[in-house]
Amino acid sequence: MTRTILILNGPNLNLLGTRQPEVYGPTTLNDVEELCQAKAKQLNVEIEFAQSNHEGVLIDLLHAARGKHAGVILNAGAYTHTSVALMDAISSIMLPVIELHLSNIHAREAFRQTSYISKVCVGQICGFGASGYPLAMQALTDYLGEPA
Ligand code: DQA
Repeated sequence: MTRTILILNGPNLNLLGTRQPEVYGPTTLNDVEELCQAKAKQLNVEIEFAQSNHEGVLIDLLHAARGKHAGVILNAGAYTHTSVALMDAISSIMLPVIELHLSNIHAREAFRQTSYISKVCVGQICGFGASGYPLAMQALTDYLGEPA
């Protein structure tokens, strides 16, 4: 059976392409999804690509990933820096989660340099713009190893 990965995007990422392009680049979320679909073919995995502006919906999608996906790539947007609930959801689902950001959060405002989710994720990729998504897919697939 083909392995599947959830790629989950948080608040305001639906506005990519027009939102602060000097920080987040010109790529739209549709472009990002296309990049991910191309990488999925190369890796021989399937993806579910989702976005929500709502913390509870993101948590529901993480819960629903159990038994369905082999792992998760999560750009939690600003909830990265605020959400104990998302951190708890990640701890609860027993799936490897990679934290992803387009921008280098460590080189930005002090409040962005704290991530509630880093400690419960396998690792973090940030600062590579849209290229970070296929990088994270490669990293997650490598982490998971050969399917049983
Ligand atoms: C972001 C970084 C966050 O600090 C910010 O709130 C976002 C996007 C990124 O992809 O660089 O919404 O997660």
